[in-house]
Amino acid sequence: METSNRGSFTGKLGFVLAAAGSAVGLGNIWRFPYLAAEYGGGIFLLVYIVLAVTLGFTLMTAEIAIGRKTGLSAIGAYGALNAKFSFLGKLTAVIPAIILPYYSVIGGWVLKYLFIYLSGGGASAAQNGYFRSYIGQPVQPILWFLLFIGITFVVVLLGVEKGVEKCSKIMMPFLVVLSIVIAVYVVCLPGAMDGVIYYLKPDFSKFTPMTVLAAMGQLFYSMSLAMGIMVTYGSYMKKDVNLDHAVRQIEIFDTGIALLAGLMIVPAVYTFSGGNESAMQEGSGLMFITLPKVFSQMPFGSLLGLVFFLLVLFAALTSSISLMETVVSILRDKTGLSRNKAAMLTLGVSILLGLPSSLGFGPLSGIAPLGLSILDFFDFISNAVLMPIVALLTCIFVVWFVGTKSIVEEVKLSSQFKREKMFCVMIKYFAPICIVLILISSILDSLEIVII
Ligand code: PHE
Repeated sequence: METSNRGSFTGKLGFVLAAAGSAVGLGNIWRFPYLAAEYGGGIFLLVYIVLAVTLGFTLMTAEIAIGRKTGLSAIGAYGALNAKFSFLGKLTAVIPAIILPYYSVIGGWVLKYLFIYLSGGGASAAQNGYFRSYIGQPVQPILWFLLFIGITFVVVLLGVEKGVEKCSKIMMPFLVVLSIVIAVYVVCLPGAMDGVIYYLKPDFSKFTPMTVLAAMGQLFYSMSLAMGIMVTYGSYMKKDVNLDHAVRQIEIFDTGIALLAGLMIVPAVYTFSGGNESAMQEGSGLMFITLPKVFSQMPFGSLLGLVFFLLVLFAALTSSISLMETVVSILRDKTGLSRNKAAMLTLGVSILLGLPSSLGFGPLSGIAPLGLSILDFFDFISNAVLMPIVALLTCIFVVWFVGTKSIVEEVKLSSQFKREKMFCVMIKYFAPICIVLILISSILDSLEIVII
C-alpha cells in the first residue's frame, strides 16, 4: 500500500476483492454468530441488516469517495479536504492499532485449532471445557499468537498483496461453499429447528439499546469502517470504477458470510445445549466450542474441520494484513521511517499489546475492566466507543465541511448513484442522530456496569 503502488487495483474486481478480503474475516465468522446468539438471535439479525443497508452503505460510500477524491490514505485525506479535520485522520489511525494485537490473539487460536485437526485431534477439541482450559494456559496461546502475527508481518514486509488477491479469488468461493455445506448440515440436525427459529425470528421483547449498539459496532468492525481503511482503499480506486456497485457487492458479500456463519453456529449451540439459553451467552468462545462438536458428529468431520479452520485462517490473515498495512503506512507517512522499520515497530508494539489480551484468560483473569476480559475490553473500546465517534465525526465532516454534494459528485463520476436520496438523508440526519443516541446509551450502560 505504498504511494508508488497507487492505482494498482486493476479494475472493479481487484478493488472489490481487496476490500472484501479486509472486510471478511474473524468479524464475520467468529464475532457475528456469538453476538447474534447473545443479543437475542432474530432481533439482532434484523437490527444488523437494517443498519447494514442504511448506515453501513452510507459510511462505506462516504469513506471510499473521500479516498478516491483525494487520492490519499486516511491520515492525509481528511486534512487535505479540510485542515481542521486532520485530527480525524489521526484518530482513525488509533483504531487498527488497537484491533491488530487482539485480532492476532484470536488468529492464534485459529492456528491452534487448525493444528489440532491436522494432527487428528478433532475429538478432544469437541470435549466440554477444552477451549476454556486451552486459552487459560499461560504459554501456548502466546506462541500461536506470535506465529499468527509473525506470518502477518512477513506478508506485509514482502508486500505480496497481489498474491493475497489471487488467493482470495480461489479461497473466498471455497469459504462460501463450505459454509453452505456446514450450515445445511447443522440445520438438519435433530432438534436444530428451534435454534434456527431463535436465530431467524425476531423476538421484540429482547430488544434493548445494547442490541443496537452491539449491532452497530459489529457493522463497523465487519465492514472495516470508521477506521480509515476504506478511505485508503478508495484512494487506490480508479475514477472509472463503478463505486456504487462496488459498495453494494462488498456489503452483500460481507453480510452474506456473516449470516451463513450464524446459521452454522447458532442453531448448533441450541441443539448441543438442549435449548438452554445460557449457552447462548458463551461469548467470544462460541465458534471454537460449538463447531468442533458439530464436526465430531459429521461424516468426514475431521477433514471438514481441517478445511474449515484453514479457510478461517485465510480470511483472518487477509484482514490482519490489511490492519497491519494500515498501521505501517500511517507510521511511514507520519515519521518517514522505512517500510521495514515501520513494520518492525508495529510488530513489536502489537506483541506487547497482545500479550495481556492473551494472558487475560489465564494468569491475568483477575483484571477485568468494565467486567470484561482484557481482550473483550479492547474489542469494546474500539468497536463500541471509538468507531461510533469516528463515524459521527465522518458524518459531520461530510455534511458541514466537505459538502454532501461533492461526495455525491464523486460517486457520479463513474456511474449513476441509485441510492443518492437515501445517502443524503442518512448522512445528514439518520446516521448522526442514531450514533449519538447509541453512544449515550452505551456510556450510561457501561457506567451502570462500573457502579454495580
Ligand atoms: N473486517 C474484519 C473482519 O470482519 C476485521 C477488520 C477490522 C479488518 C478492521 C481490518 C480492519 O474480521
